[in-house]
Amino acid sequence: MLGLVPWLASCVECPLSPGLSGKECAVVASLRLADTVPPSPGNRFADDEPAALLGFEVFFDARLSRDGSVRCATCHIPERVFGDARATSLGLELVDRNSPSLHGAAWHRWQMWDGRADSLWAQPLLAFENPKEMDFTRLELAHRVKVTYRERYEALFGALPALEDGARFPPRGKPGQASFDAMAPADQDAINLVAANVGKALEAYQRKLAFRRGLLERFVDGDAKALTTGEREGLAVFIRRGCVSCHAGGLMSDDDFHAVGLVDAPPRARAEAFVVLEASPFTAAGAFHDGAKQTLPMRRASDEGAYRTPTLRNVTRTGPWGHDGRFATLAAAVQGHADPMVTGSELEALLLFFTVLDASDPPLPWNGWPDR
Ligand code: HEC
Ligand code: HEC
Repeated sequence: MLGLVPWLASCVECPLSPGLSGKECAVVASLRLADTVPPSPGNRFADDEPAALLGFEVFFDARLSRDGSVRCATCHIPERVFGDARATSLGLELVDRNSPSLHGAAWHRWQMWDGRADSLWAQPLLAFENPKEMDFTRLELAHRVKVTYRERYEALFGALPALEDGARFPPRGKPGQASFDAMAPADQDAINLVAANVGKALEAYQRKLAFRRGLLERFVDGDAKALTTGEREGLAVFIRRGCVSCHAGGLMSDDDFHAVGLVDAPPRARAEAFVVLEASPFTAAGAFHDGAKQTLPMRRASDEGAYRTPTLRNVTRTGPWGHDGRFATLAAAVQGHADPMVTGSELEALLLFFTVLDASDPPLPWNGWPDR
């Protein structure tokens, strides 16, 4: 890494203004975004082009919701960096969380503010089956795939189950509903496999949405003029105020969960996510994970009231901010959880620094709507 940043090798000459120590200089280098998204060991279709194209269509398909009115793109809008610019999202009903920009999703280790999905392919079913979001069931999903996407699905993932057998495969149902719970376990597995595969196609698509290197990388790579003096001051504040201890690395998130005082009543967050993870057949510990199985991490006392550190890439474009969109301004978002509070001039510098965190957008066609 350091080889790529000649001026960092001798940090005494660190060209930052007002000047950073050698150690701080190395932290700047650690903020450089990698050239490619991390691998997805649980999804052997993660980098498969036909899978991405299938996911592209599914993402914009409103028929995959109870009344045909909600698609993934309802709350992850291409023109809104794949967020929705609302405090909390509106699907079939109002949900209680803020929709994250999906440009960061392929970079994150955990999905959702509380990490209740441990992969990008396991996440979609949570949206499909959420009564407030799309209120679709995995049985309906399988039937709809058969009607609309059969050929492309089967070319990728193999034959769909015998869905025409209505006694074995009712038209709708998910765990907790009699229609699904009464099915033979093997048939339930067959439906779960379809749901997992649709998720894998959606992951392949969302990997195409990953943000790319921007102005900050030009700076780290040696173009000292890429940042103005004010922006460099903001960078220095960001490091000195310890923001980097959580907003770390190229993603500007340590992908870990921290209780920073923004609790809900009743408190939920990371601690609650384990209830979902431990009951889910779709984690890296389960049968649908393609690579070597992994065990789930242990619960920690610190998970109470903790949310995942959000990426700060594109942060000027992703408001309102916070897991429930409670912050209407970036200044409020910083002051709302910085401990101790930053001073007025530090805040000013930080806001300037945020503007250089704009990442490059993904290329077309992925960054837009599919042709219909
Ligand atoms: C009703 C609005 C809505 C719809 C529809 C919706 N989402 Fe989301 N999405 C959200 C919200 C809100 C969150 C944050 C939820 C949370 O953390 O509890 C989220 C989180 C995510 C995340 C996690 C991102 C991250 O950085 O943690 C991914 C990935 C995602 N959605 C993809 C999808 C896909 C794929 C679909 C379609 C199958 C979809 N969403 C449908 C609102 C929506
Ligand atoms: C202890 C870890 C930690 C530290 C230190 C920290 N943050 Fe955060 N930051 C978080 C977490 C967690 C959230 C999400 C909080 C929530 O919404 O529940 C967050 C949210 C944010 C947001 C809102 C982003 C969004 O998309 O909603 C901004 C902006 C931000 N932090 C900037 C900063 C700055 C600037 C500093 C230093 C002054 C800082 N943070 C220090 C963990 C941290």
